[in-house]
Amino acid sequence: MADPWWRDAVVYEIYVRSFQDSNGDGIGDLAGIHARLPYLKRLGVDAIWLTPFYPSPMHDAGYDVADYCDVDPRFGRLEDFDALLADAHALGLRVFVDVVPNHTSIEHPWFRAAVADPSAPERELYLFRPGRADGSPPNDWQSVFGGSAWTRDETSGEFYLHLFDSSQPDLDWRNPVVHERFRDILRFWLDRGVDGFRIDVAHALYKDAAMRDGKENAWDQDEVFGVWEEWRGVLDEYGDRSFVGEVFLYDMDRVARYVGPTRLQQAFNFSIAKMPFDAEAFRAKVTRSLELFERDGTSPTWVLSNHDLIRHATRFGGGEAGRRRALAATAFLIALPGSAYLFQEEELGLEQSDVPPEARQDPIWFRTGEAGRDGCRTPMPWSANGDGHGFTTGKPWLPFDDQAAALAVDKQDGVAGSTLEAYRELLRRRRELVPGLGREVAWLDAPDGCLAFRRTAADGRSLVVATNFTAEPRTLPQPVVTLDPETTVWHLEG
Ligand code: NOJ
Ligand code: CA
Repeated sequence: MADPWWRDAVVYEIYVRSFQDSNGDGIGDLAGIHARLPYLKRLGVDAIWLTPFYPSPMHDAGYDVADYCDVDPRFGRLEDFDALLADAHALGLRVFVDVVPNHTSIEHPWFRAAVADPSAPERELYLFRPGRADGSPPNDWQSVFGGSAWTRDETSGEFYLHLFDSSQPDLDWRNPVVHERFRDILRFWLDRGVDGFRIDVAHALYKDAAMRDGKENAWDQDEVFGVWEEWRGVLDEYGDRSFVGEVFLYDMDRVARYVGPTRLQQAFNFSIAKMPFDAEAFRAKVTRSLELFERDGTSPTWVLSNHDLIRHATRFGGGEAGRRRALAATAFLIALPGSAYLFQEEELGLEQSDVPPEARQDPIWFRTGEAGRDGCRTPMPWSANGDGHGFTTGKPWLPFDDQAAALAVDKQDGVAGSTLEAYRELLRRRRELVPGLGREVAWLDAPDGCLAFRRTAADGRSLVVATNFTAEPRTLPQPVVTLDPETTVWHLEG
């Protein structure tokens, strides 16, 4: 039986607010993405993942959802979504949408009803608790964004739990009504034809029932697997659709519990995004990922960047060297069994932007004074020219920096040696060479600071992928392959 499509897909994350604005308000939107589908097709990805575009007050960039079954007017209308989906499918691109089940927005009608009347049934959808005798919050849990995870509801005097911003109250997944509501939400989008869901904070839906102190009690409780089994049942009624869970745990052994034939098909492996550009680190993490995830019912995910992380060109040192290393790392991982999740603008070699304090929008910045995640969320520079760089005719919601002129799409398009052309070539070769290869990864002897593996096809043909993580040239002994500093070579045999 052929492997399902999601098992070895290249999925491109579109940060909806920052991809393409179609109406000059400075905010990316669905019609903008629609118009850019040919770019994505030409880039050579298999699927796109759209970050939340649902009605939201945008306290956390749309991860605070006020209505799960509609489109925020800033991003368009449901008809725009349908049109985008239809054309993506016509081009052979699959579409993942984001689902945010851990929390809603404070502006969701459920939460509004819950605070308006503490005896309303909606109150039971959330986690309200009385404070301690001294008036302090019910326990010591901290918000991921800084400060207490509890905010006092002034009307009732009780506190509500929010593992993220105070504008994102957590739902009570021990309440069966929450399950019912989310089954309907999944069906709403499945019926429209989405190919899958990226599940936000998939590890955090259940908290310790007794709400004991200690951050280990705030998430990653085994009860959550019941939800993924239930959701998988719904999804499987629709054929070959897929889930990818954002299981934000750096311990990949724990992440592995979330996936399997009756749970999620895949989960992001953030341990990969934590690796330094170093041969030993890559070998250790990749080996363990393959052991844990390369099995029936799941496959590894390779994630180097996303809208919450420092862009990997920057993490790997920045500048020309950072870009070279970033490309080498991608070219190495993308040849392995499993799915690669790319983040928009990495194909341009973009680095983290230094967003000035007055322009920042991330709640992390407002809650803690730390720079936050805006630096990886700046809009896509399509053109080297113009204030809006082809992204908008208006004022972009986050400012461009000098990279926009230097790395814009139109500066790299058709230019040999550009990062964009290197990505296109890499993805073209992947489509051409990888599908027939066996899933087994055989490590080869490699010089110090280098890694090499081979994957072989049934007809004997094989692909050797070798990466030189050092700043000096190296030579792979067998097969003999010359490796420039900080580059990955794909070498065909047979
Ligand atoms: C993970 C999302 O990727 C992030 O952007 C968001 O702030 C949190 N979940 C809360 O929804
Ligand atoms: Ca717009």
